[in-house]
Amino acid sequence: MALAKIRTLIVDDIAETRENVRKLLQFESDVEVVGSARTGREGIQLAQELDPDVILMDINMPDIDGISATEVIRQNSPYIQVVILSVQSDQNYMRRAMLAGARDFLTKPPMGDELISAIRRAGEMAHIERTKTSQVRLGSSASSSGVSLVSAVGSPATLGKIITVYSPKGGTGCTTVAVNLAIALNNEATRAVVVDGNLQFGDVAMFVNEQGKNTILDIAPRVDDLELDLVEDILIKHQTSGISILASPPRPEMAEKVSADQFVKVLQFLQKMFAYVVVDTSSILTDVVLGSVDISDIILVITTQEIPAIKNTRLFLDLLQTMGIGKDRIVFAINRFDKRISITPEKISDNLKHEVAVTLPLDEKVVITAVNRGVPFMIDNKNQLAGKGIFSLAEVVRTRLSVLESDTEIKR
Ligand SMILES: Nc1ncnc2c1ncn2[C@@H]1O[C@H](COP(=O)(O)OP(=O)(O)OP(=O)(O)O)[C@@H](O)[C@H]1O
Ligand SMILES: [Mg+2]
Repeated sequence: MALAKIRTLIVDDIAETRENVRKLLQFESDVEVVGSARTGREGIQLAQELDPDVILMDINMPDIDGISATEVIRQNSPYIQVVILSVQSDQNYMRRAMLAGARDFLTKPPMGDELISAIRRAGEMAHIERTKTSQVRLGSSASSSGVSLVSAVGSPATLGKIITVYSPKGGTGCTTVAVNLAIALNNEATRAVVVDGNLQFGDVAMFVNEQGKNTILDIAPRVDDLELDLVEDILIKHQTSGISILASPPRPEMAEKVSADQFVKVLQFLQKMFAYVVVDTSSILTDVVLGSVDISDIILVITTQEIPAIKNTRLFLDLLQTMGIGKDRIVFAINRFDKRISITPEKISDNLKHEVAVTLPLDEKVVITAVNRGVPFMIDNKNQLAGKGIFSLAEVVRTRLSVLESDTEIKR
């Protein structure tokens, strides 16, 4: 049996460098260059599409730099091995590259032999890691549900990240964004769960056409001694998308049975099971919503181009500041964006003194049809503008999370 080639992706903003590296590798029978990217962002995208074994990554690039890109890629696909190629050979760069999960570090221009042996070492490691990941996956899917503890999936024993989606105005699109974002973030190595934090009128389960009989009410009273099996039984597993859902109580008057303290503890338990815990919220700032905001890694604030929505968003951003939540934990998005309306994202961003990370277009055909069918557009309509918007939102979220993580690593 012929040995599988080491599938290699080149990420560098300079065409000449990409070409030189390609030339260095063209006569190696065990290495196949499967693609090349010009920026960190493109690298992240191609890593996901092409699923290479090894990535040769430059550091200084437009949009996302090579170190942040490495971090995102390793988080998505822990088995992909990154070899950094950089003109900078100083210790600080190397340290940051290693912290980001790079496997090797070569100074540019690399010597032929040096490069090839680095790729072979990395390729071997990718092969071992891939086998490990698939074994863990096989092991866990043999259990009832396929959900396994994050720390068992080959990645470091880190907790999953909590992302609370909030809008101070009802009907803005929180649930739409929460569900579709979770689908975009979810993959075999990084599982996502959506927790319905709209305890009175939650509709997350409905968005995916599910009506499980189990809800957060079944675990809230037992938060102090939760067990994995119990939580797995209560979660709705949405087959077509792969995400899990923790539904809200069946009737509005039951909302008060879940305290903020219980809600927070549920989220903290789910952090041990999932890479991403996405919380959908009500626009009313209940203690439950505030508790969730407080422990979130990222708060995704959504507004529309309407003055009342923008005014309320400003009040909410002020509140976050009072709560001591830094701007780096806030991602700001505009939904239902309509270019015919003169309030542009730039104006909103100026007014709120907050960068708009993504604008999701108004698209009634795609978005409302999806809700009414109970099939999120990220399942069967992801190539439309709304889907593209959600993909870039997922990328912003991943990048932000990795920047936050490397900041805490550096502070340590
Ligand atoms: N980008 C969009 N384009 C068109 N329609 C949209 C868009 N985003 C959301 N909608 C529609 O707006 C309605 C409200 O969306 P959604 O339920 O997601 O908002 P919400 O903020 O969760 O509302 P609630 O306050 O009721 O929880 C839905 O019918 C949805 O299909
Ligand atoms: Mg909602």
